[in-house]
Amino acid sequence: MEQIIFKGFIVEEHGDRFVGSIKTRSVSELPENDLLVKVRYSSLNYKDALSASGNKGVTKKYPHTPGIDAVGTVVSSDTKKFRENEKVIVTSYDLGMNTDGGFGQYIRVPSDWAIKLPEEMSMKESMIIGTAGLTAAMSVFRLTENIKPEHGKIVVSGATGGVGSLSVAILAKLGFNVSAISGKKEDHDFLFKLGAREVIERKDFEQENTRPMMKACFAGGIDTVGGSILDNIIKSTQPMGVVTCCGNVASEKLNLTVFPFILRGVSIIGIDSQNYPMEYREVVWNKLAKDWKLDNLMKVCTEISFAELSENIDLILEGKIKGRIVLDLET
Ligand SMILES: NC(=O)c1ccc[n+]([C@@H]2O[C@H](COP(=O)([O-])OP(=O)(O)OC[C@H]3O[C@@H](n4cnc5c(N)ncnc54)[C@H](OP(=O)(O)O)[C@@H]3O)[C@@H](O)[C@H]2O)c1
Repeated sequence: MEQIIFKGFIVEEHGDRFVGSIKTRSVSELPENDLLVKVRYSSLNYKDALSASGNKGVTKKYPHTPGIDAVGTVVSSDTKKFRENEKVIVTSYDLGMNTDGGFGQYIRVPSDWAIKLPEEMSMKESMIIGTAGLTAAMSVFRLTENIKPEHGKIVVSGATGGVGSLSVAILAKLGFNVSAISGKKEDHDFLFKLGAREVIERKDFEQENTRPMMKACFAGGIDTVGGSILDNIIKSTQPMGVVTCCGNVASEKLNLTVFPFILRGVSIIGIDSQNYPMEYREVVWNKLAKDWKLDNLMKVCTEISFAELSENIDLILEGKIKGRIVLDLET
């Protein structure tokens, strides 16, 4: 194959500083795997920002190309699973963590990490969804195994963020009465447009409360932030309610007693999209392409070019992103 040269956002370690810049790379430098994909779009997730800022829990070795999400066309495949020019989505596993990720115009990954782009979904839609949307959909999927709209309100934290905003939108599409917790006063309208029926200001919900349980207001919750907000969601969940937990932007710590679990039968379900088995992943992507297809996807999307990546990485680390940031690799 002729040598392919391409553009990528490469993060380099300079002492205790991590600096990202756009550089030229060659496909021959990519890891030896069986699927070569020309990336059309990627997206920005909180984990990408951690990788780009030198978090060694996410990325151990630099220089490195972040990007845990990618969609594109197959350039070559050493297995029969995919054909040339087929459109594929690659998310999570080790993509963008210690394997060169979607912030480069080409990736080479194990074919087991890829799924065919559903016919009903465009490449851009798949990246508006990305890992954040997949995590939101997995959270909704697990929650709705037990909780139905008639059981009561569902609370979503970090509601203007990637996972939060898509959770609000999917739950509203499924007929749930959604209460959104948000720290962004100026974005209540955005949340109502996504389908939230109530917005709770984060400052009114994040105080540590010494009582083991609080007034039971919610049939369930999707928490994306952890810490005292997750404590308070669990303490405010009705008997037999379900809360999912996927993130730690506020804190990784919980300060709880066993009482919500043993006196109200509340369940907590952990969500780990990175290692979610492929068979369930396909189910969730297909739901997102069909029954759960969101008409308001474009409303949560901001498209950016390579040149705008650094500033958006800073914004996501500061908790200032609204919705989903999609990177156009052809810019
Ligand atoms: N377990 C998994 O499989 C998985 C997958 C994807 C993501 N995650 C995790 O889920 C979390 C959210 O990811 P994301 O991509 O949605 O990030 P994001 O787009 O940055 O959204 C996070 C949101 O949390 C809120 N927030 C920010 N700082 C906060 C603080 N100090 N206290 C309370 N709330 C705060 C903000 O929303 P408001 O201003 O509206 O409050 C922010 O927009 C991250 O921890 C990420 O690592 C986990």
